[in-house]
Amino acid sequence: MTPRAIGQVLFFSGVGVAIAVSILYATKSTAQNAGESRSEGNAAPIYGITIPSGYREWQLISLSHLAADKSDDPALVEARMALKQLRAQLGNDIAIKAFREGKLPFPDGAMIAALHWNEASSDENDKVLVIGFPGAGLQSSVPKSAVNVQFMLKDSKKYAASGGWGFADFTNGKPGNEALHKTCFGCHQPAKDHDYVFTRYAPTP
Ligand code: HEC
Repeated sequence: MTPRAIGQVLFFSGVGVAIAVSILYATKSTAQNAGESRSEGNAAPIYGITIPSGYREWQLISLSHLAADKSDDPALVEARMALKQLRAQLGNDIAIKAFREGKLPFPDGAMIAALHWNEASSDENDKVLVIGFPGAGLQSSVPKSAVNVQFMLKDSKKYAASGGWGFADFTNGKPGNEALHKTCFGCHQPAKDHDYVFTRYAPTP
């Protein structure tokens, strides 16, 4: 298995679903929705979504941390140390407005980006923290290498069969395969009461 394939299996088995990872990239491009400017590039299979330009400038919805700390599978014991991710969820203007107003379902045109990075401890930060807070044992973690970016785009007509959401996953700008995209909507079912979105708007500090 490639490192990426192992990573996918680890991630998904870590949250309860094992998926078959195919190396075949099937890209079925379909027409884009109006109202979002998109960069050139390959469209993700099934939903035909490309990476929207400027998504790094979208606003913060929330953050999460993902680690395989609770795995009791011996096969994962060694590898699980490698699975630590920092995750940011960003929204375009339509999505952010809906989050702030607590509006459900999300209106058409809402788009959510989930940016995933491998997490690494920062010796540089820790050296400073131990001076400022001696004995506190503080450890700082920062995003290191990029893992992938995922998107959800609301279009209640076009994506009626999947709760009104289109899903897309990209690694290094390249869309994941069709098998991967078949897993998205099913796994978001538990969040049905929140329009299939797990992330909640983080409180303003
Ligand atoms: C194993 C179940 C599972 C699968 C499969 C899955 N997701 Fe998710 N997704 C989650 C969970 C749980 C969260 C919230 C926690 C997190 O970020 O890990 C989430 C969060 C997201 C978010 C942020 C918005 C939200 O709902 O919180 C996006 C965007 C997203 N997923 C897209 C995708 C795409 C695209 C795919 C398919 C390529 C996919 N997901 C497949 C479980 C899953």
